[in-house]
Amino acid sequence: MKRILVTGGLGQIGSNLVPFLRNKYGKENVIVGDIREPSDDVSPFVKLDILDKKSLEKVIDEYDIDTIYHLAAILSAKGEQNPQLAFNVNILGLYNILEVGREFSLERIMVPSSIAAFGPETPKDNTPNDTVLRPRTMYGISKVTGELLGLYYWEKYGLDVRGVRYPGIISWNAMPGGGTTDYAVEIFHYALRGEKYVCFLKEDTVLPMMYMPDAIKALTSLAEAPSENLIHRTDFNVQAMSFAPKDLVEEIRKYIPDFEVEYKPDYRQKIADSWPRSLDDSAARKEWGWKADYDMKSMVKDIIKNLSRKMGVEL
Ligand SMILES: NC(=O)c1ccc[n+]([C@@H]2O[C@H](COP(=O)([O-])OP(=O)(O)OC[C@H]3O[C@@H](n4cnc5c(N)ncnc54)[C@H](O)[C@@H]3O)[C@@H](O)[C@H]2O)c1
Repeated sequence: MKRILVTGGLGQIGSNLVPFLRNKYGKENVIVGDIREPSDDVSPFVKLDILDKKSLEKVIDEYDIDTIYHLAAILSAKGEQNPQLAFNVNILGLYNILEVGREFSLERIMVPSSIAAFGPETPKDNTPNDTVLRPRTMYGISKVTGELLGLYYWEKYGLDVRGVRYPGIISWNAMPGGGTTDYAVEIFHYALRGEKYVCFLKEDTVLPMMYMPDAIKALTSLAEAPSENLIHRTDFNVQAMSFAPKDLVEEIRKYIPDFEVEYKPDYRQKIADSWPRSLDDSAARKEWGWKADYDMKSMVKDIIKNLSRKMGVEL
């Protein structure tokens, strides 16, 4: 039976992944762990700092955990503002997770990587899965380290660590935690409140993006893929859609025609400029059947429908 711990389970992806996993494996079998307190009842919940290895061991033991979805992390923009914290949480924290996985012979550990693993020398269009990895952000460095450590634990100890390189993840029911693609989430809230949005990236900055349901599908279907089919393990490119802020604005204006946007790029532009525009995800397609369900049009339609209802806005 699956007993799952989701670290960073209160975050943008965790708050969507946990209901999905609970639906599949039962509420009591999916434990949310996070360093902050929940605002709603998400029990079973444990307050957990992944840098505290003893507490981590206690949780694994007490709840008889066999699988970890390791989502606790400091994201790209926040990481550039506090690189020391990003190093500690993303590298030392992951090391604790892997060590606990080895000590307790866990069945599987899912660790998302990111397109931040790439850098300025990486080919920007249709970026190959296996290519130059020379990121210049602490977040990106931590993601490459994570991919390599995961592979190391698999080859040396047989610990089954897997992960996808997420692009920017867009959701309507959870706010992002400090990444470079956060504009693509915030923008919908401004549009629906009838307020002008000031975008922190240039209007023509094309980046790969993914709608939350596809993000959940990617990580959970990789988790279930037969091990013998996998050639890659911790570093799968997954492509869904690519667009620039101006493309998203144009699509939103089909629903909210007088939506106003101004572009004032800040320090996040430099991070975005070092990332790819689109990804070659043929390894994920071939090895575990990856295919996204949403493109930008269908995503915008779905977000406007759900978020307007949630915010009580009539269009
Ligand atoms: N959201 C995206 O667009 C995106 C894109 C690429 C990769 N990813 C990756 O997906 C994973 C999840 O991202 P997310 O968007 O949900 O992040 P998030 O910032 O929304 O959530 C991270 C969670 O981790 C918790 N956390 C931070 N430090 C902790 C610690 N020391 N111990 C325990 N919990 C701690 C935070 O409280 C937060 O709830 C991360 O590995 C991230 O790098 C996300």
